[in-house]
Amino acid sequence: MNILVVGGGGREHAIVMKLAESPKVDKLYCAPGNGGIAKYAECFDVKATDIDGVTALAEKLAVDMVVVAPDDPLVMGMVDTLNAKGIRAFGPDKAAAIIEGSKVFSKNLMKKYGIPTAKYEVFDISSAAIAYIEKENKYPVVVKADGLALGKGVIIAQSFDEAKNAVNSIMEDRIFGNSGLNVVIEEFLTGPEVSVLCFTDGTAVKPMISSMDHKRANDNDEGLNTGGMGTVAPNPCYTPEIAQRCMDEIFIPTINAMNAENRKFKGCLYFGLMLTPDGPKVIEYNCRFGDPETQVVLPLLDTDLVDVFDAVIDEKLSDMDIKWKNESAACVILASGGYPVKYQSGYTIKGLNEKGQLDGYLVYHAGTKADGDEIKTAGGRVIGVTATAADLESALEKAYKGVNLIDFKDMHYRKDIGQRALKYIK
Ligand code: AMP
Ligand code: GLY
Repeated sequence: MNILVVGGGGREHAIVMKLAESPKVDKLYCAPGNGGIAKYAECFDVKATDIDGVTALAEKLAVDMVVVAPDDPLVMGMVDTLNAKGIRAFGPDKAAAIIEGSKVFSKNLMKKYGIPTAKYEVFDISSAAIAYIEKENKYPVVVKADGLALGKGVIIAQSFDEAKNAVNSIMEDRIFGNSGLNVVIEEFLTGPEVSVLCFTDGTAVKPMISSMDHKRANDNDEGLNTGGMGTVAPNPCYTPEIAQRCMDEIFIPTINAMNAENRKFKGCLYFGLMLTPDGPKVIEYNCRFGDPETQVVLPLLDTDLVDVFDAVIDEKLSDMDIKWKNESAACVILASGGYPVKYQSGYTIKGLNEKGQLDGYLVYHAGTKADGDEIKTAGGRVIGVTATAADLESALEKAYKGVNLIDFKDMHYRKDIGQRALKYIK
């Protein structure tokens, strides 16, 4: 099989490297890819959001499957266009991808079908949103832009003034463009967070190994929100009892709700959960693999990923027994100094071998660029170093040993990835 993966970050590198393990795969392509992906897949300079460009490329390469990994092309309907041309694609169509594309949609879906989530109200006028915040007078309060916002559309406001500013910047200044036509004002929940990525063909739901993201830029969960500074899997807070509850109260009801709305979801459905004192609740849905969750989840997959993608596309997932390694994985993200605000690129990355890897590790490139024989930094999140081991503590120790072997100017990373998770084990 020849497969084209759409995207160019660490998540796509993890997908490409897993697919490369499959005996069924002949040739891997990626659009646009990056410096590390280029060692495993032929990369083409076509943007992930360029639906016509990607479709034309898939036709030209006569691929057997396209894997659409990022949120924006999915929400824009890339899978619909590919399918209309008779090209097999892994990922939800536009009607289903709205579960991530609109928070107003997903919140209303949860309310309508009784899926546990934070209490909320939706507003299309800023003054009404602000009046509601003032009336509720409960802080922190969570302000969310309706549409996609590069993971930055959620503001946890500690005071009325902060909340008012958040509403105004989203709805009046339109800092996220038309994603801010509506806002969701939401109750602030507490408890450990768990990411559960599920394969689903619209009928069967097969959860992958759970994981824990670390979204803040600095140690002790301080600093700005980022795309994710590191992950561990499995997430020790996610006990078998909680997993069963999530299956019964959240996963299956969500799949059923999407079918009832004529929006059958096929692909990877990501449940961002919070384990609150009142039970597990949905913080967000994503219509795709998480980044950097994928970088710890896929290394633990024992079943051929091509077979899983085929089963999802052909709606035969219920027949499949997906196997996982009984191990733990940890991923530490190495970012450019200054990320997520302002940073420099173009620095040489030292310590990697000719495959852009480290022996004994999985090094997933996010923002890198090949420059002759060298690999240079080309983004905020640069690479993720993943280690697997028998238990979480060993995986973390090993991951940080790997981190110490890599260097580039102004490299920044969190030193406490997995520490919170370890506390739940001890
Ligand atoms: P999101 O971009 O939707 O993943 O949200 C970013 C982060 O904001 C989440 O991972 C949570 O840590 C936090 N968050 C979102 N909604 C809430 C909420 N209702 N209560 C507490 N924290 C939240
Ligand atoms: N790591 C969070 C996300 O992929 O949205």
